[in-house]
Amino acid sequence: MTKVLITGGAGFIGSNFVFHMLENHPDYELVVVDLLTYAGNLETLKDVLDRPNVHFYKADIADREAIFELFENERPDTVVNFAAESHVDRSIEDPGIFLRSNIIGTQTLMDACRKYGIGRYHQVSTDEVYGDLPLDRPDLFFTEETPLHTSSPYSASKASADLLVQAYHRTYGLPVTISRCSNNYGPYHFPEKLIPLIISRALADESLPVYGTGENVRDWLYVRDHCTAIDRIIHDGRVGEVYNIGGHNERTNLQVVKTVLKELGKPESLITFVKDRAGHDMRYAIDPAKMMRELGWEPTTTFDEGIKKTVKWYLENEEWWKNIISGDYQQYYEKMYANR
Ligand code: NAD
Ligand code: TYD
Repeated sequence: MTKVLITGGAGFIGSNFVFHMLENHPDYELVVVDLLTYAGNLETLKDVLDRPNVHFYKADIADREAIFELFENERPDTVVNFAAESHVDRSIEDPGIFLRSNIIGTQTLMDACRKYGIGRYHQVSTDEVYGDLPLDRPDLFFTEETPLHTSSPYSASKASADLLVQAYHRTYGLPVTISRCSNNYGPYHFPEKLIPLIISRALADESLPVYGTGENVRDWLYVRDHCTAIDRIIHDGRVGEVYNIGGHNERTNLQVVKTVLKELGKPESLITFVKDRAGHDMRYAIDPAKMMRELGWEPTTTFDEGIKKTVKWYLENEEWWKNIISGDYQQYYEKMYANR
């Protein structure tokens, strides 16, 4: 493998994957594509953009002409598609852009792969495609065979993309893999998502909005463990397969918020229960046995270590997130949380 096209590389997980690849495969060329939506931040990549083996393009993965031209010029042998609209709350407000970027974007990339030839197309998907599990059945986990059963426009768009990826494999023989990961956290996480939202607001002694009763469970994975898993899949994963990625780190939202507050030395009195998210999934929990068995992957960062590292990162990189929350984000927060 020599040239990897990474879409969404200026976002949270995509940028961490760029850093992971540069550290672990310094001889590879990386073609980074990102539309630089509100969630994409070129500042994140500033230390690596000048490297001779990093080529950055600002482009929309759903723009056929731009993507085909890019493939014509760059001829990547591997594509890892992170680019997506990724926030459930935004998808509830305005689903249209989720369908364009997440579904049409995936189709466009795969059409370019068919035309120009590719060694591997990897789709970065989510455990949210499986819907949710009940709180009173802790024995249940999502396996790769769990039926798709989505709740939000976001998860429906991701599931649609997964189905298209499988169809392109079966119909056109495109060499694809899909990974479905649980909730990530770590450096460069956009502050609209729970953990960075809590860190940034707690540091300012602002109220911390917890939806509903805070009993919803998420299965948290440190972002670099997700990157290691994708690296394994694109090198050694079996074509046509789905791999679930997770680390058995289930926590209720309330537990997560309290852990962060403890780490920051801030009081629990900042917690404010607000109106629940519409269609709010109760519990996500991944069974990662296939990743472990077939690819020898397992996460290396425990939740407690990961939270410590993440809080430290946000304390040491205030400029990165303060730039974000001082801009349009302010209006987003006021609009999204006004009626809660
Ligand atoms: P993010 O919102 O932080 O980043 C998404 C990036 O994609 C941004 O840089 C944005 O500018 C770019 N982008 C959006 N639309 C685009 C388009 N049309 N063309 C080109 N670029 C576009 O999201 P993230 O949390 O880094 O998630 C990355 C991927 O991982 C997504 O596909 C998401 O569904 C998946 N995922 C995320 C999590 C999680 O916990 N964050 C868990 C499992 C799977
Ligand atoms: P989020 O980070 O948006 O990820 P996802 O919806 O993909 O799981 O939310 C994580 C959990 O935290 C989810 O159950 C919703 C909840 N949540 C809050 O309670 N308050 C908030 O302000 C946000 C953004 C999320």
